[in-house]
Amino acid sequence: MTDLDPVRAIDRLRATFGGPDRHRTLHAKGRFYAGTFTATPEAAALGRAGHLAGDPVPVVVRWSNAGGDAGVPDKVPDIRGMAVKFRLPDGTETDLLGQTSRRFPTDSPEEFVAMTEASRHQATFPLFLLRHPRMVPAILDGLRSKAVSSPRSFTERTYYPIHAYGWRDADDRLSWVRYIFVPQDTAPLAQAFGGPDRLFEEMSARLAQGPVRYDVHLQVAGPGDDPHRATSVWKHARELLGGTIEVTEELPDQDPLVFDPARVVDGIELSDDPILRYRPSAYSESISRRT
Ligand code: HEM
Repeated sequence: MTDLDPVRAIDRLRATFGGPDRHRTLHAKGRFYAGTFTATPEAAALGRAGHLAGDPVPVVVRWSNAGGDAGVPDKVPDIRGMAVKFRLPDGTETDLLGQTSRRFPTDSPEEFVAMTEASRHQATFPLFLLRHPRMVPAILDGLRSKAVSSPRSFTERTYYPIHAYGWRDADDRLSWVRYIFVPQDTAPLAQAFGGPDRLFEEMSARLAQGPVRYDVHLQVAGPGDDPHRATSVWKHARELLGGTIEVTEELPDQDPLVFDPARVVDGIELSDDPILRYRPSAYSESISRRT
């Protein structure tokens, strides 16, 4: 476990970006969207949770820029976020928070906060990496896969919720599952957008033409794949299509709506991943400052 006090973590992250008080500490700039999620029969066979049965369930999506200052224009390179809230027929909810890095660089919340601080100083960031060599492969992978970039559209990117979740099937058998949100259509629109909110304007124009669809790929851990660390690279996973998210319209501001990676429903379990276990305390502290 970590000894990083969440109050201190949020103080440090907020000081790093200096954004206005009433925003999220990270992913400050974002907008909300409505749609549905429809699971495949393969997902239903693997998990008994209510949103996997195959009937469309409502979702709320929030696309975001990862920085903590909502005033930064969309053209500035950044990680992007896609948070999804699934609303089940029984009134419960479960959330998945994806971002554009397919690998997470550390299992230590303290190191994550230190890296976020250090990444704001380009000249000295290489020095930070020299002192934290274990983080380098994930950061290089992020550079190669354009995790930090300035896309023309949120739909140019794939989003990774990173953590593994335990799925129980109808017979109570457990599988460890990671998710990948893969866009169905990455083709640019004919119209170009250049303003400070260009990603959100592009999304409005795209939705005016029809729904935006994301396939939800599932990676199911094989023998030896560790579900309890954000940094683990799975070598024996099988991948299958778990369903499709179909986003149909932009919503008015939903704040103080909260996406919480530890919010699960019957049939879904949390792993012992120290990053996953730490996040709710940091998010609660962030929420208390913005609400
Ligand atoms: C120790 C590690 C982490 C810390 C301390 C952290 C911290 C935070 C905080 C404070 C917020 C704002 C919460 C709010 O005010 O509602 C946030 C938002 C977010 N985080 Fe993290 N985070 C961590 C890891 C991750 C990981 C691993 C992912 C994705 C795989 C992620 C994805 C997101 C997304 C997508 C949002 C925006 C959610 C929204 O749109 O409301 N974070 N994070």
